[in-house]
Amino acid sequence: MTALSVSTSSAAALRADALVIGVAKGPKGLVVTSGAEAVIEAFEGKLAETLATLGANGAEGEAVKLPSPAGLKAGFVLAVGLGEAAEGGYPLEALRRAAGVAARTLSGTKKAGLALPAESAEEIEAVALGALLGSYDFTVYRTGEGVKEPVGDLVVLTGRKGSKDAKAAVERATVLGEEMNRSRDLINTPPNDLHPKAFAAIVQAAGKEHGLKVEVWDEKALAKGGFGGILGVGVGSANPPRLVKVAYTHPKAKATLAFVGKGITYDSGGISLKPAGHNETMKCDMSGAAAVFAAVVSAKRLGLAVNVTGWLALAENMPSGSATRPGDVLRMYGGKTVEVLNTDAEGRLVLADAIVRAGEEKPDAIVDVATLTGAMVLALGNRTFGVMAGNDAFRDKLHATAERAGEQSWPMPLPAELRKSMDSPVADLANMGERMGGGLVAGIFLKEFVADGIDWAHLDIAGPAFHESAPYGYTPKGGTGSAVRTLVQLAQETAQA
Ligand code: BES
Ligand code: MN
Ligand code: ZN
Repeated sequence: MTALSVSTSSAAALRADALVIGVAKGPKGLVVTSGAEAVIEAFEGKLAETLATLGANGAEGEAVKLPSPAGLKAGFVLAVGLGEAAEGGYPLEALRRAAGVAARTLSGTKKAGLALPAESAEEIEAVALGALLGSYDFTVYRTGEGVKEPVGDLVVLTGRKGSKDAKAAVERATVLGEEMNRSRDLINTPPNDLHPKAFAAIVQAAGKEHGLKVEVWDEKALAKGGFGGILGVGVGSANPPRLVKVAYTHPKAKATLAFVGKGITYDSGGISLKPAGHNETMKCDMSGAAAVFAAVVSAKRLGLAVNVTGWLALAENMPSGSATRPGDVLRMYGGKTVEVLNTDAEGRLVLADAIVRAGEEKPDAIVDVATLTGAMVLALGNRTFGVMAGNDAFRDKLHATAERAGEQSWPMPLPAELRKSMDSPVADLANMGERMGGGLVAGIFLKEFVADGIDWAHLDIAGPAFHESAPYGYTPKGGTGSAVRTLVQLAQETAQA
């Protein structure tokens, strides 16, 4: 595993395999960014020129290696692009992405120094987090030769004198990076190994390790408790469902947040089976639960003065002789009835139970996270999650929180007129309504299960949860860790409020 540290020593003196510097697109061509002064000196003023000769121009995503001249203790220099040159500081996302590219490029090496622009605590954290996320690789199931180890040690170099907050910044990045990588591991684990029971066992083990209270409802307890939504989705599978509560409490907490995660360990669609081409990546359908789990552990590791309760609604959605049929009516936790018109709209069924159960404990707010609808992917694309909420103020708050956390999101409405499209002739409502605006219809369904007086937001991460094309910045193929940072940011800001 990759280890992060911070150092104020000179880049020239660092003994490492590689020294990472930043380059950017200046008005007159490539420029070397601050943080690399010692490297510029060692190249005797020829660094920018040499890089330009090699075809570098400072664009985002660029990575160019150079042998070290005398005067540097590192084996080679890696120049990574930050995009447009910026006076007075680079955008934090540019720093995260460049550090991510560097760490990815350096897999197989033992130790690297990062001499990127990192003066403020925020910049140090961005470089550290980007590097840790970029070093991620999922190799558990590879047996062949040529699997490179992630870079071993990453030293963030900074000229910052106040080493205390530099240390704190790297510690925060370590927690966020490791916990996002934990959620990525869960998402990437194939569904034959990560079924609900296995997921619950992992949460229990982490609860022991970190001192979190974990409670698990197995299929018997779910039946006894009347969790008809979770049971109805899981009943077709040989792997029975689970509801998991994982709670972090702080003695000085003034507020309690409930995070609810959709944890469909595999979504085949059930009897309303998905066609080929739509189910190959559906192991990612537990990304919401993975994000919630990672966020609760992060809150604990950061010691935030807030209570955070995670609710993981875990089920495998499979077709079989015992599966829920389109036309069946489920009696949900809390008593509402739902006519299942499409068994592929299963996420809202497991979430509804968990949202009602979470609401019973009267938290100050509920935020659910779910790979809920293809419609949200059509609306916002692959890198932006949708934010819906019971009121505009809380929706805008989550959108702004995500932005501060470095995640792309967009506020979406819950138009009241869409509710009637879920009217059912036999039950309180149906699990499917109008196709147009399907992401909003799903949000309106969930809203029906939120207790009055509790702030509630819904993050539909169906787009950004799983990355299928080439890696970029700090984002690998596969699980991304979407929403973890937003949840942790919300917890942190709630603790400080
Ligand atoms: N898990 C899917 C949504 C999804 C789609 C996640 C693409 C990630 C990528 C969800 O359970 C689903 O199947 N939703 C249906 C709902 C419809 C039947 C009302 C959808 O979006 O098509
Ligand atoms: Mn589905
Ligand atoms: Zn699903």
